Amino acid sequence: MASSTTGPVVDTEYIAEIERARRDLRALIASKSCAPMMLRLAWHDAGTYDKKTNTGGPNGSIRFPKELGHAANAGLKIAVDLLEPIKQKHPKITYADLYQLAGVVAVEVTGGPAIDFIPGRKDSSDCPEEGRLPDAKQGASHLRDVFYRMGLSDKDIVALSGGHTLGKARPDRSGFDGAWTKDPLKFDNSYFTELLKGDSDGLLKLPTDKVLVDHPAFRPYVEKYAKDEEAFFRDYAESHKKLSELGFTPS
Ligand code: HEM
Repeated sequence: MASSTTGPVVDTEYIAEIERARRDLRALIASKSCAPMMLRLAWHDAGTYDKKTNTGGPNGSIRFPKELGHAANAGLKIAVDLLEPIKQKHPKITYADLYQLAGVVAVEVTGGPAIDFIPGRKDSSDCPEEGRLPDAKQGASHLRDVFYRMGLSDKDIVALSGGHTLGKARPDRSGFDGAWTKDPLKFDNSYFTELLKGDSDGLLKLPTDKVLVDHPAFRPYVEKYAKDEEAFFRDYAESHKKLSELGFTPS
């Protein structure tokens, strides 16, 4: 039998609590300049989803040491710890909702698109096995294996990779070093314009970033998003919402 717990009751009080938590998240992200790690936390909680077995996904399981200890999650304990006081202040809200809300707020307050947020995710203590998140050293077929497993598409792969408009890699965490864009606290389409410029400017390009330019199924989206920020924002908001709702059926 599935060990699923029941989800939160999403009544008007829950929705009011979400709005209060949203304000606290805006303040936290502004005061700590931690939008990039909040977006990475939301993505890493959600990105373990496996459509076939309906396991993993945005369920808050990343807060447990077993999953936080996965190599791909290096550094994310800081984000989990920063969010704990907000969870304590709004105990009704599930970790699963709180982490996805933090991702949505991180994009909005750094200048990105508004992302529709529907509350009601259940928390789970079932941590997926290690190895479900993408490996930055691999190529197109690996990216497809991972994102198709979640039920996502080529377009989602490219749009969501635009999340690297925020933040940077650190040698002590991933072994990579540096930011993808000149202003890593601003959400815009510069990830794509920098990708098309190639290697010359000292910014980071992971093998999985470069593949987006090199592969014929991905490249048209890179070109479109580099040219048209509105188009990027529209597609990003749609893909981010899908990512944040993997395995979740709003009641
Ligand atoms: C950081 C890999 C997709 C958001 C990183 C880092 C790596 C990585 C290696 C550096 C971690 C560190 O050293 O601290 C990948 C790979 C992806 C992928 C292989 C496959 C496509 C995504 C997606 C999003 C995202 C879909 C969000 C929508 C971020 C953010 C950071 C980051 C915001 C910066 C975190 C910070 O500055 O603390 N990613 N990523 N990534 N990733 Fe990704």
